[in-house]
Amino acid sequence: MDLVKEINRLREEKNAVILAHYYQEGAIQDIADYVGDSLGLSQKAAETDADIIVFAGVHFMAETAKILNPTKTVVLPDLNAGCSLADSCPPEAFKEFTERHPDHVVITYVNCSAEIKALSDIVCTSSNALKIVNSIPKDTPIIFAPDKNLGRYIIKETGRDMLLWDGSCVVHEAFSMDKLIELHKKHPEYKIIAHPESEEHILNTATYIGSTSGMINYVKEHQEEKFIVATEAGILHKMQLEMPNTELIPAPAVEDNTCACSECHFMKMNTMQKLYDCLLNESPAIDVPEPLRSRALLPIERMLELSK
Ligand code: 13P
Ligand code: SF4
Repeated sequence: MDLVKEINRLREEKNAVILAHYYQEGAIQDIADYVGDSLGLSQKAAETDADIIVFAGVHFMAETAKILNPTKTVVLPDLNAGCSLADSCPPEAFKEFTERHPDHVVITYVNCSAEIKALSDIVCTSSNALKIVNSIPKDTPIIFAPDKNLGRYIIKETGRDMLLWDGSCVVHEAFSMDKLIELHKKHPEYKIIAHPESEEHILNTATYIGSTSGMINYVKEHQEEKFIVATEAGILHKMQLEMPNTELIPAPAVEDNTCACSECHFMKMNTMQKLYDCLLNESPAIDVPEPLRSRALLPIERMLELSK
């Protein structure tokens, strides 16, 4: 079967839109109506008039799309496509944590479950985190969850004293500092760019730190330079597509990682076959019951409002 042809036929027939994250495999990015970072994807999900949203990303992303579109069908090619960062913040423990600090504003990174969003005052993504934190009055204490690495980076950049949840992303913690130093010694002309989910010692080596879209834009503006890219390796697909002559190397991961570069095995659970199947069967579909959905919606809407 010609999967590309069949996906295109079903998309047209069913008035579906395919949204994909930069960490998806190349073929999925190529067939998507829109490829973006977490903020761009939630903005697209909020404004689409399609009847079906096929979310080629991970569960929390599809869940965010469903929270924004309760009457639409939102499907995820593989329901097991989770996120280690979202998993590192269980709702019961987080609720207790927030109750111990009732005077704190709760800011959560979008990489978390609907239950965590429902316990939050405002959501952020890596591309608007500094702006969201800076929007909170200086004398108001802040809880930031679940990513401690992004949290530390925000503290450094804004000077805010935030209480951090102890969560992290397995992919962005798999970069090997030793191998990175070795690689950089071999290729000193390469600049390092990094995603803020990476650990502090990696971020300290970076010329540029930003979201996936931010990193792509930075490379676009400096096409004549060469880069070592410290984020999930799927991003290189888009970078090479748009900047075919720019030399890029994915940042190396520790030996025992599943891949020599850092790949998110959750993101890579989605395949073209599963994308076709979920469009055909309109399943697996994401469901977020009320009143959880309405509670989780508010902090997402606040973020979208501040990101216009
Ligand atoms: P952004 O694409 O928003 O930078 O997020 C990266 C990420 O880890 C998504 O899971
Ligand atoms: Fe989650 Fe990390 Fe994968 Fe992003 S790269 S989906 S944060 S595990």
